[in-house]
Amino acid sequence: NDTHVGIEAIQAHFQNAGIVPSLLRQFTPTALLSLSYDGVSVVQPGQNLTTDAVKPVPQLQITPLNSSVSVAGRFTVAMVDAGIVGADESKGQTRHWLSNGATISGNKIVFTNATNITDYTSPLPAKGSGAHRYVVLVYAQPPSFAPPVDLAVALPVGTYDLNQYANSSGLGGIIAGTYYDVQQGPSTVSVSATSPVLTSTLPGAILSASSTASPSA
Ligand SMILES: *[C@@H]1O[C@H](CO)[C@@H](O)[C@H](O)[C@H]1NC(C)=O
Ligand SMILES: *[C@@H]1O[C@H](CO)[C@@H](O)[C@H](O)[C@H]1NC(C)=O
Ligand SMILES: *[C@@H]1O[C@H](CO)[C@@H](O)[C@H](O)[C@H]1NC(C)=O
Ligand SMILES: *[C@@H]1O[C@H](CO)[C@@H](O)[C@H](O)[C@H]1NC(C)=O
Ligand SMILES: *[C@@H]1O[C@H](CO)[C@@H](O)[C@H](O)[C@H]1NC(C)=O
Ligand SMILES: *[C@@H]1O[C@H](CO)[C@@H](O)[C@H](O)[C@H]1NC(C)=O
Repeated sequence: NDTHVGIEAIQAHFQNAGIVPSLLRQFTPTALLSLSYDGVSVVQPGQNLTTDAVKPVPQLQITPLNSSVSVAGRFTVAMVDAGIVGADESKGQTRHWLSNGATISGNKIVFTNATNITDYTSPLPAKGSGAHRYVVLVYAQPPSFAPPVDLAVALPVGTYDLNQYANSSGLGGIIAGTYYDVQQGPSTVSVSATSPVLTSTLPGAILSASSTASPSA
């Protein structure tokens, strides 16, 4: 199944870009997150985007791995600047978007009844500071979710510790996520190298290529 391969691919991308384990200890999504900006078709994991391209609020779409993955209930959408590859994430992240109580309607993430803590604020990394990784995550938000008081009101962009927030507020697991890069001007910092993810070599791709039951797309 393409969704299965897509999930393995995004997991490999998170590993490759060092998002796992520096930002997330683990990343085991049960759905694919498709993020698109007006004027950019679906953003590929790790795609390089310009500051202009990322200005509008993106649209988010969810494709569950299978029918037993629930898209009912509420979700928290979080986008953080995880800095350049190799950045120390233990000191927290810049919060570019934080919205509680989003829902999924016909695969689209909708914010009709959401509580926006930090409105989507488009990336603007400092010139010369390298390619910053902007990570967008969708967390399950159980009824017992209780945000810390200092993160329960509308706030501008600021720093927080994503993991501490998720843990202390009782958020559920990450159901889906993706990331892209934005860089301004030539980098004056040295960034650790990453290698490309070859989808055709992922276990699921090999599995479906060798299976007559699942035709490849
Ligand atoms: C993004 O740009 C950097 C150079 O700044 C390049 O090394 C990298 O391969 C590009 N990534 C993608 C996915 O095109
Ligand atoms: C393949 O993925 C789609 C998208 O989530 C899903 O609806 C479908 O049930 C999956 N098919 C199989 C055979 O698992
Ligand atoms: C659906 O996906 C979930 C999450 O990966 C998995 O735990 C479950 O076994 C799958 N169910 C089916 C029927 O394939
Ligand atoms: C928003 O809340 C109203 C009132 O509870 C409800 O009727 C509506 O279905 C909700 N919309 C979404 C998209 O969750
Ligand atoms: C919350 O944010 C979403 C997405 O950025 C936006 O569509 C919605 O209008 C915002 N809601 C409020 C009450 O500002
Ligand atoms: C999560 O929170 C609990 C209690 O609030 C704490 O004991 C635990 O160390 C925290 N875990 C992480 C990974 O921060």
